[in-house]
Amino acid sequence: MANSYEYKLSRGDKMLALIRKVFHNYPEFRHDSLKHVARFAPFIPFFSGKPDLSQTLQRVVTFADHSNSLYFGNPIILAAGANKTAKRICDYANMGFGGITVGTATRNVREGNTHRPRVGFIEKERAIHNSMGLNNDGVEAIAARVDSQLIKAHKKGLCVGVSVAETPGLTDEEEKIKDILESFAIAYKVGDYIEINVSCPNTGESRLDLDTRFSERIFSEIMKLRSTFGVRKAVFAKLSPDLSETALRTLLDLLTKYGVNGVVIGNTFPTAKMTQLNMQTPYESLKVLRQDGDKGGLSGRPLYENMFRSVAFVRQNYPKLKVMACGGIDHGYKILELLQMGVCAVQCYSVVAFRWMAAHEMREELTYALKANGFTSLRDFDAAMEQ
Ligand SMILES: Cc1cc2nc3c(=O)[nH]c(=O)nc-3n(C[C@H](O)[C@H](O)[C@H](O)COP(=O)(O)O)c2cc1C
Repeated sequence: MANSYEYKLSRGDKMLALIRKVFHNYPEFRHDSLKHVARFAPFIPFFSGKPDLSQTLQRVVTFADHSNSLYFGNPIILAAGANKTAKRICDYANMGFGGITVGTATRNVREGNTHRPRVGFIEKERAIHNSMGLNNDGVEAIAARVDSQLIKAHKKGLCVGVSVAETPGLTDEEEKIKDILESFAIAYKVGDYIEINVSCPNTGESRLDLDTRFSERIFSEIMKLRSTFGVRKAVFAKLSPDLSETALRTLLDLLTKYGVNGVVIGNTFPTAKMTQLNMQTPYESLKVLRQDGDKGGLSGRPLYENMFRSVAFVRQNYPKLKVMACGGIDHGYKILELLQMGVCAVQCYSVVAFRWMAAHEMREELTYALKANGFTSLRDFDAAMEQ
C-alpha cells in the first residue's frame, strides 16, 4: 500500500498558487512558463535554484546487456512533455533535476491538437489534465538541439533521454514502421537513452500498447535496428498506467523477449477512465478536454497509488527490467519508497506546477529520509540493497 506523503506549503509554493490563480484563464501560458522559471531560477531572490553537483544522490544505472551506463546527478528526472523542444536543456539542472527526457518527438513537425486550451489544472487534487496531442518540432530539430547541448548537460549532472513516438494518423503498417524506425535512429544518435512512447492517450489514435501484435513488430524491429549500431544505448518503453494485469504481462513478456532494457511506468492516465483513480473531481467538469472528446490524459497526485501497484508488479515479476517510476511523485519520501522497490530512477512532471523548485525540495526530503535510515548517500543505500 502506497503512502500519501503530505508536504508543508512553503512560501514558494504559495507564490506558485498565486501565479496559477492570477493566470487562471491562461492555462497554456502557465504551463509554458516553466521554461522561464528554469532559466531565471538562479537569479530569483530567496527562491534561487542551482544545479545539484553534490555526490550525495548521484546514481549510475548499468545494464546487463552492456548498454551505455546512465549517469544521473540524482535519480529525479523531468518527464517527457515538459521540454518538448529540447531548447535550453541545461536550465532544468537549475531546478534540481538529475535527468531529463526531452520530446516526445515525432518524425516531422506537429502542431498537436488544434483546440485551446489543451491543458487544465485541478487545484484540489494537485492534478493536470491535458490533450496537447504530441505537438513538437520534429525529431531532426530536437536531436540537433540535444547534440549541441549534451556535453554541457552532462557537466551539470543531467542525463538526457529522448522520447519518440509513431506519427499519429498513419494508416499503412509498413509506413508506420518506417516512421518510428527513422525517428528512433535519429534520436538514438544523440540521446543517452531512448524512450519509446507507445501510450499517448491524447492524439485520438489507437494506442500502440493496446495492440500486442503491432507492438511486438515495432519492438522487434527497433531492437534489430539497435543491434546494427556501433554503440549500444538503453531503450525504455513508456507504458500507460491503465493497463490490466493481463495486458501488462503480455507487453512485458514481449519487451523482455526482444531485449528492451526497461519501462517507464507510466504515462498520463486516460481521462475518460478517471473514475478508476482516487479522485473527487468529476469527469464532467473537465470541459477543456471534452471539447475534443475523450482524447486526454490526467497527471499528478491521484496517479501515485495506481502507479505504485504497477511498479510493484513489474519489480516482482520482471526483476531484470529496469523501471523508471512516473505518476504523481511529489515527495522525497515517495522516491525513497520507490527506490526501495528497486526502481532505477523516478520521473515527474505535474509536481513542478504545484511545488516551487520541486526537485530541490524532493532531493532534500530524500537526503533526509536516507539519513534517517542510516545512509549518507544513495551509493551507500545501493550497496546495502545489493547485499
Ligand atoms: C501537459 C503535459 C504534456 C505531456 N506530454 C507528454 C509527452 O509529450 N510525452 C510523454 O511521454 N508524456 C507526456 N506527458 C506525461 C508525463 O511525461 C508523465 O508521464 C505524466 O504527467 C505523469 O507524471 P506526473 O504525475 O508526475 O505528471 C505529458 C504530461 C503533461 C501534463
